[in-house]
Amino acid sequence: MANLDSVLTETRVFPPSKDFVAQANVSGPEGYQALCDEAERDFEGFWARLAREHIQWAKPFTRTLDESNAPFYKWFDDGELNVSANCLDVHVDNGRGDKVAIIFESDDGKTTQVTYRDLLARVCRFANGLKALGYKTGDRSIIYMPMSVEAVVAMQACARLGITHSVVFGGFSAKSLQERIVDVGATLVITADAQQRGGKTIPLKPAVEEAFGLGGCEAIRNVVVYKRADVAGNWEEGRDVWMHDVEAGQSDTCEPVIVNAEHPLFILYTSGSTGKPKGVQHSSAGFLLWAHLTVKWTFDLKPDDVYWCTADVGWITGHSYIAYGPLAAGATQVVFEGVPTFPNAGRFWDMIQKHKVSIFYTAPTAIRSLVKAAEGSPEHHPQKYDLSSLRVIGSVGEPINPEAWMWYYKNVGGERCPIVDTWWQTETGGHMITPLPGVTPLKPGSCTTPLPGIMAAIVDETGGDVELGKGGFLVIKRPWPAMIRNIWGDPERFKKSYYPEELGGTYYLAGDSANRDTDGYFWIMGRVDDVLNVSGHRLGTMEVESALVSHPLVAEAAVVGRPDDLTGEAIVAFVVLKKARPDDAEAAEIAKDLRAWVAREIGPIAKPKDIRFGDNLPKTRSGKIMRRLLRVVAKGEEVTQDVSTLENPAILDQLGKAL
Ligand code: PRX
Repeated sequence: MANLDSVLTETRVFPPSKDFVAQANVSGPEGYQALCDEAERDFEGFWARLAREHIQWAKPFTRTLDESNAPFYKWFDDGELNVSANCLDVHVDNGRGDKVAIIFESDDGKTTQVTYRDLLARVCRFANGLKALGYKTGDRSIIYMPMSVEAVVAMQACARLGITHSVVFGGFSAKSLQERIVDVGATLVITADAQQRGGKTIPLKPAVEEAFGLGGCEAIRNVVVYKRADVAGNWEEGRDVWMHDVEAGQSDTCEPVIVNAEHPLFILYTSGSTGKPKGVQHSSAGFLLWAHLTVKWTFDLKPDDVYWCTADVGWITGHSYIAYGPLAAGATQVVFEGVPTFPNAGRFWDMIQKHKVSIFYTAPTAIRSLVKAAEGSPEHHPQKYDLSSLRVIGSVGEPINPEAWMWYYKNVGGERCPIVDTWWQTETGGHMITPLPGVTPLKPGSCTTPLPGIMAAIVDETGGDVELGKGGFLVIKRPWPAMIRNIWGDPERFKKSYYPEELGGTYYLAGDSANRDTDGYFWIMGRVDDVLNVSGHRLGTMEVESALVSHPLVAEAAVVGRPDDLTGEAIVAFVVLKKARPDDAEAAEIAKDLRAWVAREIGPIAKPKDIRFGDNLPKTRSGKIMRRLLRVVAKGEEVTQDVSTLENPAILDQLGKAL
């Protein structure tokens, strides 16, 4: 993690090469400054110009930004469009139908190529099939699928019909799936019989059955199943239907349904500071514009590039930078089913070599694990592969520590490729603070400077600007087209979470703390709320706590993060049992049980790394758990802070020593 020390001591600067600058989509400081100045001078005019240039409108908009009901901003809101037509038809209609849209590589290394024409036809057939089943604009679907062409087809087909999708990551549990089905009010689930990862077949449909068993899913009329592994399972006639049967006999053309610019394209759940995940609602036009534009700006996408984002479509990165942005920009992209370490730690490098990938976008956690793997198996070190096709490499999801940055820069980028360390969030819809590869001198560990039109700043707790070099809350002072529109079904929570009155109610509060150095570069320090970032996955401490306390043995639990070399942060849980504190042997057993319990309640990514049992938790006299002390204990450090408000100081000792 970037910390204050790295901000103060990091002096290495890597400017872009002259050759890169000469060919870049946004070129040199002048190119960047011109765009920033345009946005400063005429904010709405800037966005309107970009929206006219990058979106094919069925009905052009005349209003750019409606602030009348702020913070519920609306963009281009009298315009109409279809997102899928903007990702597929535009290319086929403009003579690019034979261009490869997706190079799919399966877990076991088989490759399939899908052109824009093929992809459009598949999306149309599936959309027609969904229509035949009675689904239409305004309906909501849950997509619970592995990485596949079919997942992209499912998302695009929903977009084509104006069905708002909510993708649930395949690693989430049946319970998480059920909560999302209920909260979003879905009538359709699109899933697969199984997923294939790391040489294993992992059934997926049974989790859907289990979710239904938990109740509240009665509104679901169909479960559409992509046959990936031919795993037999429970099958309910009339409800369950194979994806290939839905497509069978359908026409290759399907008129896109024209929707309003503000029509919700998707709702994606993410963790917040309470136990209940938030349904982040995104728009159609604003989201599409930014996904498209940032692919062009941040990745410097050119017609001949082979682009690869290693994220899963279950996360926002897979929405903006797999399912929509690259397609809108007409890219050829790799979609990968498997994991970075199967069949060996050279998988990513082998794929870059094989598919001649030129733009590569991954997460610090993957880089850190591959650094370790490369040390352990030198034959799979990136330097053993021909990575000369690469020209831009990127990072997303968490702070990248300068050591991992340097390793990535040298061994993967060949000291030639700019690293775009992109800071953004589920809520922002696309990149916000990031280097531009043909513009920005890079500093390892810094996401550098905001994109043109993104008014990022660092403020104190009253919303006042802080001086350079002083840390504070990261905010965005003006709205932007791809921003979150609402928390699904909970506008009050939206206002409270992102536009708190304490900051004046007009700044978007990101929930991160940040620092800005004297060159104006941003350094992200981590979350200021009760949100953890484990391997780039966002998890609420309250979410994990609720899962723990739902276990019959648990009376009370408090969860904090601890820095971890591999996963960025690791989850540490402090647990009070309903019975007496267990001895070491019993504690180990119960801890194992609790980990499995959390995996079942949320998903394996939420399993605490360390569980400690105590007679109690450190509390103030008014009963408030003192988490800041628990964070110190979790790190194994001595508590030197003031503990005078603590009711039971002795407990710190016990928790520090506990297993
Ligand atoms: O804390 C920041 C961290 O990830 C959070 C957003 O998580 P999520 O909504 O899951 O989206 C992840 C993919 C965009 C942020 O609040 N984060 C994301 N990117 C970076 C980052 N922290 C530092 N540097 C980044 N490049």
